[in-house]
Amino acid sequence: MFAFRFFITLFVLSLLSLITEAQNPTYLYHVCSNTTTFARNGTYQSNLNGLLSALSSSANASNWFYNTTSGENPNRVYGLFLCRGDVSTTTCQDCVTFATEDVTQRCPVEKVAVIWYDQCLLRYSNASIFSTLTESGGLRMWNTQNATDPTRFNEVVATVMNDATTQAVLVAKRFATKEANISLFQTLYSLVQCTPDLSTSDCNRCLRGAIAALPSCCTGKVGGRVLNPSCNIRYEVYPFYNESAVAAPAPPPPVLTPPPVSEIIPKGKGRKSWVIIVAIVVPVGVSILLFIVGYCLLTRRGRKKYDIVQGDNAVTDITTVESLQYDLNSIEAATNNFADSNRLGEGGFGVVYKGRFPNGQEIAVKRLSRSSGQGAKEFKNEVVLVAKLQHRNLVRLLGFCVEGEEKILVYEFVPNKSLDYFLFNDDRQGLLDWSRRYKIIGGVARGILYLHEDSRLRIIHRDLKASNVLLDSDMNPKISDFGMARIFGVDQTQGSTNRIVGTYGYMSPEYAMHGQFSVKSDVYSFGVLVLEILSGKKNSNFYQTEGTGDLMSYAWKLWKDGRPLELLDPILGDSYARNEVIRCIQIGLLCVQEDPAERPTMATIVLMLNSYSVTVPLPNEPAFFPHSRIEPIKLLESDQSTSQSMQYSINEVSITEIGPR
Ligand SMILES: *[C@@H]1O[C@H](CO)[C@@H](O)[C@H](O)[C@H]1NC(C)=O
Ligand SMILES: *[C@@H]1O[C@H](CO)[C@@H](O)[C@H](O)[C@H]1NC(C)=O
Ligand SMILES: *[C@@H]1O[C@H](CO)[C@@H](O)[C@H](O)[C@H]1NC(C)=O
Ligand SMILES: *[C@@H]1O[C@H](CO)[C@@H](O)[C@H](O)[C@H]1NC(C)=O
Ligand SMILES: *[C@@H]1O[C@H](CO)[C@@H](O)[C@H](O)[C@H]1NC(C)=O
Ligand SMILES: *[C@@H]1O[C@H](CO)[C@@H](O)[C@H](O)[C@H]1NC(C)=O
Ligand SMILES: *[C@@H]1O[C@H](CO)[C@@H](O)[C@H](O)[C@H]1NC(C)=O
Ligand SMILES: *[C@@H]1O[C@H](CO)[C@@H](O)[C@H](O)[C@H]1NC(C)=O
Repeated sequence: MFAFRFFITLFVLSLLSLITEAQNPTYLYHVCSNTTTFARNGTYQSNLNGLLSALSSSANASNWFYNTTSGENPNRVYGLFLCRGDVSTTTCQDCVTFATEDVTQRCPVEKVAVIWYDQCLLRYSNASIFSTLTESGGLRMWNTQNATDPTRFNEVVATVMNDATTQAVLVAKRFATKEANISLFQTLYSLVQCTPDLSTSDCNRCLRGAIAALPSCCTGKVGGRVLNPSCNIRYEVYPFYNESAVAAPAPPPPVLTPPPVSEIIPKGKGRKSWVIIVAIVVPVGVSILLFIVGYCLLTRRGRKKYDIVQGDNAVTDITTVESLQYDLNSIEAATNNFADSNRLGEGGFGVVYKGRFPNGQEIAVKRLSRSSGQGAKEFKNEVVLVAKLQHRNLVRLLGFCVEGEEKILVYEFVPNKSLDYFLFNDDRQGLLDWSRRYKIIGGVARGILYLHEDSRLRIIHRDLKASNVLLDSDMNPKISDFGMARIFGVDQTQGSTNRIVGTYGYMSPEYAMHGQFSVKSDVYSFGVLVLEILSGKKNSNFYQTEGTGDLMSYAWKLWKDGRPLELLDPILGDSYARNEVIRCIQIGLLCVQEDPAERPTMATIVLMLNSYSVTVPLPNEPAFFPHSRIEPIKLLESDQSTSQSMQYSINEVSITEIGPR
């Protein structure tokens, strides 16, 4: 019965959309501040009228973007229009013509205006707006429908949007669309576009900024848009652009609930915030009509899928202390009472065991050593915060257990061991070909960037190393052990910690010697890791095996001598992309520079890895690392066993911890 009503609703909406869409473009929003206005019937107005008619007549077969001016200073008007990269010339023409009339109704006396439609954008101002990046005065919109698996959904959105951006900035049209499969039944469609008068780097900046704004509006939502005057991005779970290349059957409509609506909020300074309701389902009408039959056939399977996904979500969507808590009995049962046979390894904070819950779910259980001074309440609070950090390149924290003396963290199980297991073993090294290594470098960079900038907390990892990079069944990297300083209560008050957590060979000089850590100490560790991945050699063993100083000095020497490729792991032979390798060496060397201020941020690194249009600066000589001065003063009691991981205290260290943003 419900399904029947649903179809009727869709049907009517589709018909409506067929009728209305053919005529008017879909209005979205406009911004025109009444703080700068012109006199009616004055020179500015007549110039504006001239501008609008020039724009309207320029929207023709050869133009999907056009900029022009009208009149002379001080009453000169600058204006432009931009049609969505895929619309036909008639649609573009219609949209621009409609916009030039519509805008005079909505902004009768304002000198500066931007108006957005689904199909085009029109903009004018009394100041020059050409080739100028304008990021303020935009808006964000989202479809109120929630995705069934928000975590995976957000990951796919971020990846696809970033890929599309990388593509768009390189073409003159500054436009790209990209699709990705979310599940068997759902495809994600995304679109990014800049005004083509922008430079590559301005366009890149605008789009990446818009992507960065997505979490603030659209996280877990099945549709989202960020519209700025200079660029816009959009994603949906249905094809909203004309992708004539998509020959395969379009996916069925994703929703089993009533038609979604979207809410709009203006971004930045504009009018007072307001909310309107737009039936975002309208453009989907056509495809629904076409595929309604296919959908009926698929509904059964779709529902089943839907239920299963929801079931999983019960575990993943949690944010409260209670829902993250496991009882000790179930952990003991899962790990066979912490049996030695289940022991996976030992990190700085305790022993890790493999476990399996009765429902078959595999987990990794970290049994924290008992020296943590943290009370149960703080511990729980920190775990909840860290559990919210979710990214495809981070090992997921599923929950915790605290009973009596016992403090335990429960993680997702990552099947393929850690990077060092492959990288530093002669027999297994060969499994890591260049494309895998390159993918690992990119994935680790994105994971750390998320910790530094994109997550709700600002987390400095402080112990990034090959053994903390786990590999899933597809050899995708997942960073482990992040947020441990928080959970372990190492630095709860700013500037008063006296424990250093880190690993010999990966610690930046300022951290190892003075206890000063910042995002740039992670960047240093990342640089060491990159050089290790390239060379297949371990930095901490390098001195003994090569007898030529550390790996960084060796890499630097080769770089300086113009023989950078000799750094590369010989097992790779000739099968690698020379430009990628050189870029990575250069990035690695930039990261291990002595002065933290000269090391790039993770955001820059990700950009440099993603886009060949970004220039990578030349590195300076790496930090000289005085090995003899790094001595543990007092080992924590938990640390009898690990050979690689060190934790020690030193006195009077200053800390630059940054709390939650
Ligand atoms: C500008 O618009 C605001 C809100 O619409 C209004 O309150 C204000 O009076 C207007 N100012 C002028 C100068 O028209
Ligand atoms: C502007 O000009 C039009 C026609 O030329 C006239 O109808 C209107 O009253 C004028 N408005 C003002 C404010 O002078
Ligand atoms: C399209 O508009 C531009 C700018 O007004 C003009 O130069 C050009 O001749 C027009 N092309 C066609 C085919 O009408
Ligand atoms: C359009 O903008 C560019 C600068 O981005 C400028 O060089 C060009 O003259 C403008 N076109 C017109 C018709 O004003
Ligand atoms: C645009 O108009 C406003 C108000 O009329 C004025 O303050 C500003 O200087 C003008 N900008 C330019 C570039 O002419
Ligand atoms: C989506 O999820 C949010 C919070 O998780 C909830 O408040 C909202 O009602 C949900 N929306 C729909 C349409 O289910
Ligand atoms: C999505 O999946 C279909 C088959 O299930 C495949 O043909 C298509 O290439 C996939 N698309 C993408 C973007 O991965
Ligand atoms: C989509 O684009 C193709 C090729 O440009 C065109 O032939 C087709 O008419 C377009 N479809 C729609 C619905 O605009």
